[in-house]
Amino acid sequence: MESTKFTVWVINGPNLNLLGEREPEIYGRETLLDVENKLSEIANKKQINLEFFQENEEGKLVTLIHEARIKAHGILLNPGAYSHYSLAIYDALKAVSIPKVEVHISQVVNREDIRKNLLTAGACNGLIAGFGIYGYSLGLNALVELIKGGL
Ligand code: DQA
Repeated sequence: MESTKFTVWVINGPNLNLLGEREPEIYGRETLLDVENKLSEIANKKQINLEFFQENEEGKLVTLIHEARIKAHGILLNPGAYSHYSLAIYDALKAVSIPKVEVHISQVVNREDIRKNLLTAGACNGLIAGFGIYGYSLGLNALVELIKGGL
């Protein structure tokens, strides 16, 4: 971890590798690479380091969250479907004291009832949902403010 710059880990969960091709009427046509490019532009302007991860497996996401506590200053996280029921990811987030912001591309509270249960968000500082991939930009801006102590 560089001492002069903040480091943010951007962690995406299951099926987000298929962004752009997966249910485009819900998630849009932009890909995860488009998300990363947009966030990299913001990171360059803000002079922060970003690292990107995507995992489909729950345990791998838990391990990444543990690692982030020593390698990053904050976590921007879209846990995908695990958001709604993964106690393991909730516990991992609770165990890590750096700021955490959860992002959902879709407006989860307007969808199926099961998606209204936002378990992992309860272990994060904040939650952004329903703004498409722009939510990642909003989340990164908020996370940087949290890291700097401005929020
Ligand atoms: C999602 C919403 C989840 O309900 C879903 O399982 C996803 C994507 C979103 O970004 O809108 O995989 O996290």
